[in-house]
Amino acid sequence: MKMITAIIQPDKLPDVKAALFAAEVYKMTVSNVIGCGQQMGYEETYRGAVTEVNLLKKVRLDIAVNEDFVQKTIDAIIKGARSGKIGDGKIFITDLVECIRIRTGEKGGAAIG
Ligand SMILES: Nc1ncnc2c1ncn2[C@@H]1O[C@H](COP(=O)(O)OP(=O)(O)OP(=O)(O)O)[C@@H](O)[C@H]1O
Ligand SMILES: [Mg+2]
Repeated sequence: MKMITAIIQPDKLPDVKAALFAAEVYKMTVSNVIGCGQQMGYEETYRGAVTEVNLLKKVRLDIAVNEDFVQKTIDAIIKGARSGKIGDGKIFITDLVECIRIRTGEKGGAAIG
């Protein structure tokens, strides 16, 4: 099991959601977050003196998947989120130790799927 966390541009959420749906990925947690990457939140053309990071509005997706869904989930996020410009976002993948469906007590792959 893996936890796939993606930080994307907020205006790409509809496209990412549609691409995930097409890949039969229906379960997700979506949050509004703020953050910055290697441009420290400023455009490359920014000419002022940068004295601190500038936190920009982003959308975060957390999607827990079984191993056979890892690559198609990643592909769908990239398909929906990529414009080719700076700030398109990032995907972080971590090993997921456990998942428990509270209602039934199911664990692991059965609880995720
Ligand atoms: N190393 C990191 N750790 C935690 N969050 C990160 C990291 N890199 C990026 N992020 C998050 O992802 C968001 C989008 O990052 P972004 O796409 O700007 O990455 P980048 O490394 O600057 O790449 P690019 O040059 O394409 O813009 C950031 O606003 C931040 O929320
Ligand atoms: Mg960036």
